[in-house]
Amino acid sequence: MSQPGQIVIGCDHAAYRLKEIIKGYLLENGWQVEDVGPFDETSVDYPDFGMKVAGLVSKGVFQKAILLCGTGLGMSMVANRFPHVRAALCHDLFAAIMSRRHNDANILVLGGRVVGDVLALEIVRTWLETEFEGGRHQRRLDKFDTL
Ligand code: RB5
Repeated sequence: MSQPGQIVIGCDHAAYRLKEIIKGYLLENGWQVEDVGPFDETSVDYPDFGMKVAGLVSKGVFQKAILLCGTGLGMSMVANRFPHVRAALCHDLFAAIMSRRHNDANILVLGGRVVGDVLALEIVRTWLETEFEGGRHQRRLDKFDTL
């Protein structure tokens, strides 16, 4: 895993279990994890937690974040409405790598009902250790960053 730093994480009830697994993995690897919740499997509305996390990334309080819901779709939709947020729903390693190399994704989104625990942890590890390539990719990001 790359040099650990600070990361914010949030989910809904459908991915609470996976969020806890990922949080444990991050803590074991030296990351400082800000968990916005929820803290049990009681049914909640994913936008409430997606907006908290995306807002913190949008304002620059955190450079990296992880969001989870059942499919990952709702959290992606919510997060990508925020300025400067580039949330990437990744259910395979290729997407995880490319979302960092080419898109400089700052939020990794996962579906707790889609991926198994082991693959999810590999996606997290890979996403965190992959660097943005910059160059022509930065030019492309600049074209929509101010929308
Ligand atoms: C909750 O049932 C589910 O709709 C939510 O976790 C997510 O998958 C929405 O996109």
